[in-house]
Amino acid sequence: MAKVSITDLDLTDKRVLVRVDFNVPLEDGRVADDTRLRAALPTIRHILDAGGKPVLMSHLGRPEGEVVPELSLKPIAEALQLLLGRAVVLAPDSVGEATAVAVKRTPEGAVALLENLRFRADEEANAPGFAKQLSELGDVYVNDAFGTAHRAHASTEGVTHYFLECAAGLLMQKELDYLGAALADPARPYVAIMGGAKISGKIDIIENLFSKVDTLLIGGGMAFTFFKAMGLEIGKSLLEEDRVEVAAELLNRSEAEGVNLILPVDTVVASEMAEGVPVQIVPRDRIPADMEGFDIGPETRQRFSDVVLNAKTGVWNGPLGACEIYSFSKGSRAVANALVAATEQGATTIVGGGETAAAMADFGVAKKLSHVSTGGGASLAFLEGQTLPGVAALSDREDDEA
Ligand code: 3PG
Repeated sequence: MAKVSITDLDLTDKRVLVRVDFNVPLEDGRVADDTRLRAALPTIRHILDAGGKPVLMSHLGRPEGEVVPELSLKPIAEALQLLLGRAVVLAPDSVGEATAVAVKRTPEGAVALLENLRFRADEEANAPGFAKQLSELGDVYVNDAFGTAHRAHASTEGVTHYFLECAAGLLMQKELDYLGAALADPARPYVAIMGGAKISGKIDIIENLFSKVDTLLIGGGMAFTFFKAMGLEIGKSLLEEDRVEVAAELLNRSEAEGVNLILPVDTVVASEMAEGVPVQIVPRDRIPADMEGFDIGPETRQRFSDVVLNAKTGVWNGPLGACEIYSFSKGSRAVANALVAATEQGATTIVGGGETAAAMADFGVAKKLSHVSTGGGASLAFLEGQTLPGVAALSDREDDEA
């Protein structure tokens, strides 16, 4: 059901409490990747343009209820100030007297940012008292933190009980629109590309996509567990022993349900995962006993790219090789390029998952795809078909409540 949008709210002179996901990587005390900050800008600007006063709140890392100075939102406040061109006032805490004063004193046209929510254990515990205290910092509530929507925490779920209307921010809406359409009403052919090291985290997505996609391409480390299930020898390649049976079941189901599941036919092997090591390309049934597979081979690259080029909807989660090493990133690069070409031909293309999104940025193709999700765990949970508590807690649009 559609959720109330920030654009449905009258924000004039209102203090707008916004849950954002500023859980970004830091390096030497600075923001190393500001993608999530940039993604929140449309909502923040919308509030300022509408005469509202944004009060932003986020977690950073997992300090588990302790004040960890390295996980202060100070570097985020500084980076956001530069991106926005407006003053960003960092409150001393997420609740309490001094924080309430800092929020109140934030000048017109500036942005208030609460300190790391997870410095208090009550955030993850979804403690009602803490949620109520947060709610007192705003007149209206907006959730723009798609990346944290799979967590039922005080700032994403608990707080919503203290507002009459809880709205989705512009980023949240965009994420739900793209990912929701891919699940509910995809243009066909619909191709899903699944990679990453392990099957274990992806079984539910693969099963959920079975009933929806036309073709499922599987690469990355998890392909080797499928190979094992097919009775192939995989040398020293990554194997999840306890998932061989599940892989065999998925292969059987794909046949029974007519899902076109395509596994790599060749693989790039080496003695270790390191820059500059000699590599070999071998068919999947010829992986040497002392070697390990680190990427899909050139024939697979071609096959996967051909399928992707014909797609009208493409969803990708998980790299197809060890992308951090250039010689093992060629499979992912080839498929990324095919996805860009498909997008240029009118396909809707969506990439989800932290590692895959980072790879797209690294390959310089992120802006050439329809949508790169800011959600890691959240986009996985969504594609698995789970209800995200942070989304469920938002108000439904009345005109949809027939
Ligand atoms: C993320 O980066 O996936 C979100 O911010 C959620 O973080 P968490 O896994 O620590 O809850």
